[in-house]
Amino acid sequence: MKFSSCFSSCFSHPSETTTTDINKQEPQGENDENFTVFSYSELRLATRGFSASNKIGEGAFGCVYKGVLANGSIVAVKMLSIELESMRGEREFVSEISTLTNLKHENLVTLKGCCVDGTRRFLVYNYMENNSLAQILLGGEQNRIKLGWEARQAISLGVARGLAYLHEEVKPHIVHRDIKASNILLDQNLIPKVSDFGLSRILRNNVSHISTHVAGTLGYLAPEYALSGRLTRKTDVYSFGVLLLEIISGQAVVDFDLEHGEHYLVQKAWELYRANRILQLVDPIVGMNYPEEDAVRFIKVGLLCVQERARLRPEMSRALKMLTNDVDIEGVQISQPGLVADLMNIKLGQKTTFHSLYSKASNLESTPSSLSSCS
Ligand SMILES: Nc1ncnc2c1ncn2[C@@H]1O[C@H](COP(=O)(O)OP(=O)(O)OP(=O)(O)O)[C@@H](O)[C@H]1O
Ligand SMILES: [Mg+2]
Repeated sequence: MKFSSCFSSCFSHPSETTTTDINKQEPQGENDENFTVFSYSELRLATRGFSASNKIGEGAFGCVYKGVLANGSIVAVKMLSIELESMRGEREFVSEISTLTNLKHENLVTLKGCCVDGTRRFLVYNYMENNSLAQILLGGEQNRIKLGWEARQAISLGVARGLAYLHEEVKPHIVHRDIKASNILLDQNLIPKVSDFGLSRILRNNVSHISTHVAGTLGYLAPEYALSGRLTRKTDVYSFGVLLLEIISGQAVVDFDLEHGEHYLVQKAWELYRANRILQLVDPIVGMNYPEEDAVRFIKVGLLCVQERARLRPEMSRALKMLTNDVDIEGVQISQPGLVADLMNIKLGQKTTFHSLYSKASNLESTPSSLSSCS
């Protein structure tokens, strides 16, 4: 059922029977581009009763299930398990979501529709065959081997394009807030699709959807956002920079091993840059056959995006041009990156002592013994 034609009737009767009746009036699926308000029974059928075998993931918002709709199309159904007080009302929920549906870009995941059933809320997306960048990139060598240099380059450019669209083409612009590897989905051709954009819009303003207990998520946060909750497009640029470094290196934003304890990718990239050994960051699984000049440029753009001062970070469209070499970065000064080091102590939006949260990479200048010299 098209969103526009069901809006009013949908809200006066949010029950399962009513939405099913509405859907019967106009069978969905004939035009994949339409926003559909699904009935709960449709989604239950599609996901075989939200069975454990259909579950493909779980995040801070709730569980995600693979489903097959009556017309044969394969979808991912996100069951929102946020308490109702945090969520906007039914009308706002669908209206916000329909706004997001109007955003069309090759590098954004397509939101097919939603479902409101009593207190329950669901989002329905196109299913992405290659899951998320987190799974493929950070899920061990057997996964990472699928990503050669060209694939990594294409994924980085795709994500940059998707973000530049949200930041600079959509009016009013959208700050994603949660750019990270698990929110970059990959289709059957490994084309990246930014997901969960605008999800914060369906929550009430004072509720943060960032799962503060997940260290990996916190590692993507720009220092000014982690410290004061100040959110701008440059906050996303910082997260994109971290993601770029992850894509090139195949390493997680924060890692832990017994020998060195917790270590941070941003810090490592900065140290290698200062030591003139930047290419050591490139994932060894890529092999020797990659254009070194491009790799150096990508890492430098990553470092520029994570600059401590937000105003030194490029806008997304500029970062994209730097990546494609349409803007020369040869003479661009790269200063110390911002680094949120004491991840576990962070409480978003709370005033906390500066030093307990935030250490600049300049304080970490000594080169750890783990970095061997560059040939
Ligand atoms: N459209 C989709 N197609 C295929 N898999 C998906 C799709 N959407 C989500 N997933 C899978 O479900 C997982 C959970 O997604 P979800 O967005 O709920 O949480 P997350 O992004 O991993 O974490 P968080 O909620 O902390 O941001 C993803 O990591 C991905 O593996
Ligand atoms: Mg997600």
